[in-house]
Amino acid sequence: MKKIERVETGIGGLDKLIQGGLVKGSASLVSGGTGTGKTIFCCQFLKRGLEKGESCLFITFEESVNDILGDAASFGWDLGRHVKSGKLVFEYVDPLEAKTRLGSIDEFVKKTVKEKKIARIAIDSISVFGLYLADHYEFRKDLHKLLETLKGTGATSVLTAEAVNSSTRFTIEEFVADALINLYGLKIGEGNFRSLQVVKMRRTRHAEDVFPFEFTKTGIVVKSKESVFKT
Ligand SMILES: Nc1ncnc2c1ncn2[C@@H]1O[C@H](COP(=O)(O)OP(=O)(O)O)[C@@H](O)[C@H]1O
Ligand SMILES: [Mg+2]
Repeated sequence: MKKIERVETGIGGLDKLIQGGLVKGSASLVSGGTGTGKTIFCCQFLKRGLEKGESCLFITFEESVNDILGDAASFGWDLGRHVKSGKLVFEYVDPLEAKTRLGSIDEFVKKTVKEKKIARIAIDSISVFGLYLADHYEFRKDLHKLLETLKGTGATSVLTAEAVNSSTRFTIEEFVADALINLYGLKIGEGNFRSLQVVKMRRTRHAEDVFPFEFTKTGIVVKSKESVFKT
């Protein structure tokens, strides 16, 4: 049997929960409410690839490129340097244009992955443009096609989705995606209890529990459950 190749996520403590990393060439969905860390997750995932000399692609539908570069810089990650060197391709797509552009994003992804030999892709977030589309059927069809395209490129992808009441608005992507990772941020009084759960990951014996995580100086770090009770 062919050994499954794994791609380190770069998220502290996550890879050991998923047999060493994401399945190479797979498309994973990272879902969570606002402020749960989805954009940071994308940055950290691509930063790991850039450290390894891989070429990366970031498509943002939400924040501007400069905002995301600023988010990353707040952790000391100089992604702008990689944009300048051409190792990181950053593309902002106005969600209002997505209806006409979603099909062309497909072409853009294929072309860019081929030309730049892209190894990692982040798309943040797929929910936002869905909000502007009246026709959900068309949206789902296009999204399905995009996921198939991503998987067909050979690059490893992470897509984010905004969770509403702890479920994604469009459940179709959960079925088509190879993996689903949920991020939670439970605010109680002054405290914010952040946690992560691998809900599904094809071809992977993954941990099923909910694990606490923190934003540290070096980014997201998933902790062991026991660490919560230590002082
Ligand atoms: N430099 C930083 N140090 C520590 N925590 C940070 C830093 N930057 C962002 N955060 C945390 O990350 C949250 C935003 O994460 P983000 O990935 O933008 O969320 P989402 O994309 O899910 O809305 C902030 O609310 C804050 O709690
Ligand atoms: Mg975000």
